[in-house]
Amino acid sequence: MQNRINVGVVGATGYTGLELVKILLKHPFFHLAYIANSEGGTTINALHPSLNGVCQEEVKKADIDAIAATCKLVFLALPHKTAMAYVKPLLKKGVKVVDLSADYRLPQDIYEEFYCSHTDSDNLQHAVYGLVELNREKIKSAKLVANPGCFPTSAILGLLPFLEKRVVNTPIIIDAKTGVSGAGKKLSETTHFVHVNDNLFAYNPLLHRHAPEIANKLNIPFDEIHFVPHLVPVTRGMLSSIYLQVADDFDAESVLQEYYRDALHVRVSKTPVDMKNVAGTNFCDIYVQKKGNMLFITSAIDNLMRGASSQAVVNANLMMGIDEAVAIPNIAYVP
Ligand SMILES: NC(=O)c1ccc[n+]([C@@H]2O[C@H](COP(=O)([O-])OP(=O)(O)OC[C@H]3O[C@@H](n4cnc5c(N)ncnc54)[C@H](OP(=O)(O)O)[C@@H]3O)[C@@H](O)[C@H]2O)c1
Repeated sequence: MQNRINVGVVGATGYTGLELVKILLKHPFFHLAYIANSEGGTTINALHPSLNGVCQEEVKKADIDAIAATCKLVFLALPHKTAMAYVKPLLKKGVKVVDLSADYRLPQDIYEEFYCSHTDSDNLQHAVYGLVELNREKIKSAKLVANPGCFPTSAILGLLPFLEKRVVNTPIIIDAKTGVSGAGKKLSETTHFVHVNDNLFAYNPLLHRHAPEIANKLNIPFDEIHFVPHLVPVTRGMLSSIYLQVADDFDAESVLQEYYRDALHVRVSKTPVDMKNVAGTNFCDIYVQKKGNMLFITSAIDNLMRGASSQAVVNANLMMGIDEAVAIPNIAYVP
């Protein structure tokens, strides 16, 4: 594949890995040259039969030297802690990395409080948080991009336009819902069909690991972010309903429209948004309503796309000097 940039996906047998493969197979400037998981010894269509007749590439057992010999950039769609073990040697060998895990999103002290001990402090300091609405220019020259978490993506994009209007030291309440694919492919008791079907419940209320990420990226004290995620019986999709106090008399919709006037992948809606209209796309749809000094924002994304894989490809595009919108899906799975 001449003139195309060789890229790889490690963790291609998982949910976000599959979405990466699907986007990269249609990318005009990237060539998907390396696909791996923990065991190898099979083909991508054997593991994802939806790719039968489309792609039958070998899935290899992930190997640092082989990745470095093949790829200029690699996507790591791996669990946290596993990812950092790959990042350090890959960067050393000159491979650029987009990491979909939480390993490089937070300062070390916060990461260690909410996840586990960190073994790659040096690279952690140089990682760029991969939300283009915050860091587009830095992403362009980054060697390591920490792809944002799905809940933080939806919450941060909703809150960003209104930070200056917020009454300081007042609580921000984020009531969020996610589809079950947000938990990855491994089955657990709470993600079992019998528990999820016809059901709705909160998990890790106020203590979820994505709360410190939202607080850190918005520069708001952790104590002021009150984040409660819920699991809903849908496969993909994420909706964050956000409540905060604002001081000024202002027109909230105009502020939102103005803030995202030039945004490629944020759409401002005049009616409350939903998960379906963004499913399969990189869009974040946002709606705002104001009553007195209470502001209500609701923000919808596809957790596997804007919350993970399409956002990762936007970052990779920028890192390799490609227009950020190339190959990024923008037509939703509707109905
Ligand atoms: N799901 C979401 O909506 C979402 C959104 C944003 C961010 N993320 C983050 O993205 C990452 C991937 O999430 P996911 O939902 O796609 O997870 P997943 O469905 O559980 O898939 C994990 C993948 O990692 C592979 N893997 C595990 N250990 C490995 C190792 N030592 N070497 C090579 N491959 C290994 C697995 O391969 P095997 O098949 O061999 O086990 C599998 O392909 C996680 O860090 C997650 O937090 C997920």
